[in-house]
Amino acid sequence: MQIRVEQTQNPKAKPADETKLGFGRIFTDHMFIMDYTLGQGWHDPRIVPYAPLSLEPSAMCLHYGQSVFEGMKAYRSDDDRILLFRPDKNMARLNVSNDRLCIPAIDEEFAVEAIKKLVSVDRDWVPTAPGTSLYIRPFIIGVDPVVGVHPAHHLMFMVICSPVGAYYPEGLNPVKIYVEDGYVRAVKGGMGFAKTAGNYAASLKAQDEAEKQNYTQVLWLDGVERKYIEEVGTMNVFFQIGDEVVTPALQGSILSGVTRMSAIEILKSWGMNVTERRLSIEEVAEASKQGKLKEAFGTGTAAVISPIGHLKWGDMIMQFNGGEIGPLSQRLYDTMTGIQWGKLPDTFDWTVEVKE
Ligand code: COI
Repeated sequence: MQIRVEQTQNPKAKPADETKLGFGRIFTDHMFIMDYTLGQGWHDPRIVPYAPLSLEPSAMCLHYGQSVFEGMKAYRSDDDRILLFRPDKNMARLNVSNDRLCIPAIDEEFAVEAIKKLVSVDRDWVPTAPGTSLYIRPFIIGVDPVVGVHPAHHLMFMVICSPVGAYYPEGLNPVKIYVEDGYVRAVKGGMGFAKTAGNYAASLKAQDEAEKQNYTQVLWLDGVERKYIEEVGTMNVFFQIGDEVVTPALQGSILSGVTRMSAIEILKSWGMNVTERRLSIEEVAEASKQGKLKEAFGTGTAAVISPIGHLKWGDMIMQFNGGEIGPLSQRLYDTMTGIQWGKLPDTFDWTVEVKE
């Protein structure tokens, strides 16, 4: 399929101060769109000026949440190359989400090419200030104008891009998290492993209550026993207990993060003992009491490597490194971002250059 490109006639002003980008508020000049129609498949891929959509008020995605998305970034290296980080993994995960939401699969290689082309068209929007990048948001919505609960026959695959700074206002400073033991995010057999709008809708109430109490996000426990650690609002989570680095195993209710997967591979390459297993909040609390809990950090495309400085569970407060970033989180952050921004050799072959 050929991707048609319609250049904007009204380019927007680029952000004047790249140190104040925030996250996901500014959008570039163009977007990618491709339609799906039952019987015809995915068709008419195009890059067009970024603009509001025209949807029927009855469009299915607005009512029943048949909607999946991805989060990726493009990074500008010091020698002015534009790099994507493991885009094939994001597109593979998009198809996993698609399958769960009865959305027809996309051609993963074609989707990566489409994203490269869009980023190339908007390459001047990839920011240069340290720690900034171009956040890429691919998403698919069901758009049939039908208020009946069925998988859509008409869908749109779109990609929009936003120059961003750090996701959390804390930047690389440790975040404060509390363990959520009232609300649950997902259960096995549900959609927790899929990157779909409904999972984020389910998180809003807890997130809002956490922010009101001056916490950055919540740590979710499993939806059945409220015992095992799952993930934090927008990131997967790791704990260093003694010499073991533990992250919850993917058992159907946790998002399979690309940064999570990469962190595990980097830690293993350093010879560290990394395990993916069930981890109860009691075990973490016990390790904390015994002085064995060394560090905790989250991983995510938006969050990168985000150290946790303070974890509250009921009345118990666990502090890490006196509220400072720990050596392991720092080393992992430096390595991950070093590869992403092309400052370190890409020994894993993870980056993909976007050519003009
Ligand atoms: C990402 O890390 O890319 C995400 O999708 C998290 C988010 C909802 C901002």
